[in-house]
Amino acid sequence: MKTSPATFCAALAFVGSVSAFWRMPCRFQTGIGRIDPIVDPGAISAHVHSITGSSGFSPTADFESLTADGTCTACSVTQDHSAYWTPPLYFQYSNGTTVMVPQVGGMLAYYLYYLDNVKAFPEGFQMLAGYKSRRNFTGPAIDEPLSSWKTDATDNQYFLQQRALGFNCLNGDLNAPEPSLYRHELPSKEYMDEHCTWGLRLELAFPSCGNGDLDSADHQSHMAYPSLVKQGNCPDGYDVHYPFLFYETIFATNVFAGEDGEFVLSYGDPVGTGYHGDFIMGWESEEFLQIALDTCQNPSGDIEDCPLFDIDEDAASKCKFDMPSNLKNDDPIGPCDGLPVDVPIQYGPEEATNYPVAGQNGKPTTGLEPTAAPSTFSHATVTYSPADPESTKSAQGGIVVAKYSSGADAAIVAEATTSPAAPYAAEGASSWGPSPAQVTSVPADPDKDGEYIATSWITRGNTVIEVFVTEVDVTVTATETAPADAHWKRHMHRHRHHANF
Ligand SMILES: *[C@@H]1O[C@H](CO)[C@@H](O)[C@H](O)[C@H]1NC(C)=O
Ligand SMILES: *[C@@H]1O[C@H](CO)[C@@H](O)[C@H](O)[C@H]1NC(C)=O
Repeated sequence: MKTSPATFCAALAFVGSVSAFWRMPCRFQTGIGRIDPIVDPGAISAHVHSITGSSGFSPTADFESLTADGTCTACSVTQDHSAYWTPPLYFQYSNGTTVMVPQVGGMLAYYLYYLDNVKAFPEGFQMLAGYKSRRNFTGPAIDEPLSSWKTDATDNQYFLQQRALGFNCLNGDLNAPEPSLYRHELPSKEYMDEHCTWGLRLELAFPSCGNGDLDSADHQSHMAYPSLVKQGNCPDGYDVHYPFLFYETIFATNVFAGEDGEFVLSYGDPVGTGYHGDFIMGWESEEFLQIALDTCQNPSGDIEDCPLFDIDEDAASKCKFDMPSNLKNDDPIGPCDGLPVDVPIQYGPEEATNYPVAGQNGKPTTGLEPTAAPSTFSHATVTYSPADPESTKSAQGGIVVAKYSSGADAAIVAEATTSPAAPYAAEGASSWGPSPAQVTSVPADPDKDGEYIATSWITRGNTVIEVFVTEVDVTVTATETAPADAHWKRHMHRHRHHANF
């Protein structure tokens, strides 16, 4: 069997030896609320977002306000006052009570340089990825081999957009983690209960080919995906090569294992295919970002390895934006009867329709009842088998929740670095209840050996759980005569400059 060149490159690229990259940890949220300055500028957004980045965020945020008004950033690098936001995931119990799923460790925004001659996002640049009204996936459940994808992306954006979403089941197996962008729909609750014992990672790939404009009417058409989503050929007219921006957020779906109910995204999507996210460039200047892209090419991808970056986790942990007064009565965490502000659940497969938005343009709360699932609704769950070489070849590494501990045991678990601990759902999962996860500041822990890329403390009742997040890299060797043989290794990562560690 021959390894196709395209697949070969895709697999190698995430090792880091070919393409440089960095990953921006944004471990803390600046706020959770119905705000979307790109789609609903100055107004109340139709659904809840989980927001990170600059404290200058607001319903009218733009480059100027993020950089000038934002006094801090919830991302680790002080020069990055960008705004990053995505809709959070909820769990609806079968009795209708709905709570936000605890988000673990904030989010990561990867900046990967796949295309050549990568240019900084310009000042004033903003974009949206994903399509919130989509409720179906039209491709085969498992992606066609990359070698069979069209090389011309011009008429292929619909295909590529759907493959730019990932629902990564954190299966607890460091030797066989699922590849990124493997599954494009939310798996079923049953599948998650059985397999996603460490939670679910939501992935969003942004388009990286631009036509040079800062924005467009739909906030999307100034950008296009290259022919293989993350790399390949840009369509005609989209000749500006930006960094490949890739968001990862982890939700502790495993704490609902054994509970009867379903997962649904904040905009009423139980399918997942409408997952989306937004970005407003808020780096200190376009020039600074360009120098960083040109300079920070350490294959580790660690922000600590870029001498230009100033890192301040303590400031990040305290960074919040001012919640507008007309949203202060919203309860985005729950428990609520249905999704916050009565967003209706729309199951598809037909396109979701708009709904009255509580408070928007003076509309009162609608009191819509959550829609019952039609009897025809089922999740097209793609099972993962690491033995499938087509899957493992395109594996991209990523983040796994590696360990947990509660309270005083934290330091002990931190030292046991060689074998993964039990998934933290194992400990009292069903008693988690609907109280929100509070990601609080990271206490000093001099004993920690610095292997984890993110650490969060989650409080549940009187118990404090420390969640350690580590990363695996995939190493791929492929020859012209043998299929790619992927094996995984733990990636040792050091926090060198974190004041708290
Ligand atoms: C619905 O069920 C959940 C889980 O058992 C429970 O915590 C919640 O209080 C229930 N809601 C109502 C309104 O009874
Ligand atoms: C699938 O989703 C697309 C985008 O929302 C929509 O246009 C199409 O009608 C849907 N297909 C079906 C069978 O409903």
